Amino acid sequence: MEINLLSGALGAEVKGIDLKDSSIENWNKINSLLLEHKVLFFRDQKISAEEQLNLAKRFGPLEKHIYVKGRKEYPEIIRIIKEPDEKRQWGETWHTDVSYNPKPTKVIILKSVEVPPVGGDTMFSNMELAYESLDEKIKDKIKDKKAVHSSLGAAAFTESYKAMEGNGNLDEYSNAHPIVRTHPETGKKILFVNSMYTKRIVGLDKEESDEILNEIFRHQERLDFTCRFKWTENAVAIWDNRSTHHQGLTDFFPGRGLGHRRVMDRIAIEGDNPN
Ligand code: SIN
Repeated sequence: MEINLLSGALGAEVKGIDLKDSSIENWNKINSLLLEHKVLFFRDQKISAEEQLNLAKRFGPLEKHIYVKGRKEYPEIIRIIKEPDEKRQWGETWHTDVSYNPKPTKVIILKSVEVPPVGGDTMFSNMELAYESLDEKIKDKIKDKKAVHSSLGAAAFTESYKAMEGNGNLDEYSNAHPIVRTHPETGKKILFVNSMYTKRIVGLDKEESDEILNEIFRHQERLDFTCRFKWTENAVAIWDNRSTHHQGLTDFFPGRGLGHRRVMDRIAIEGDNPN
């Protein structure tokens, strides 16, 4: 096995592990690497949908997206499609997946299906480091506080993306979670808010809440917390959604990055109630 770190903050590219093998022994290796590096990348993994699902099930029960329709034959797999002429893509800007759910996603397994020759890398950011390096005064203000996360409604997940299809659910959801959560497997503290879904701090007036959240969001964007993965065909990323932020970069500009299709198959594994 060969492990190459992608940055000084998080992320490792792993060689010598076959993701077709969903045995408990192989999964144990993957999970302990995941807890150490937070996001893992594997290249040249020609795994079928069934093999991707079998590996995902080792992490726990699979989660269906509350708004987006899964693939016809595999409802737990969302096919993320960016058409060639689209500038935007699903998953743009920093976020933690479905943090508005009572049990936000534990782990995501994302596999490339069609990759543009340039553009559309995925970036990840380490929220354990973000917590550790947060200003002590802010740490004090958010101690034992919760924040409300909102689902933004179905339109946010489908209307701006030509090929993404809704599942008919139009309800909106909000849930409050601790701003600092403890990782259930490592015991480490994590800064668990994100600029996409976190709307306000419970118990503070709007002005103070906005001020603190905006300062935290700026801090979370520090580039020294990040790593970046350039996709190739049949590559797989597995990330711990509890301790990271991610975004699919929309660097699709005319005459350069625009004009190519980007397709990914995403499986999410259900998490727990953050505390
Ligand atoms: C996501 O946000 O789940 C997708 C990220 C990507 O397609 O790079």
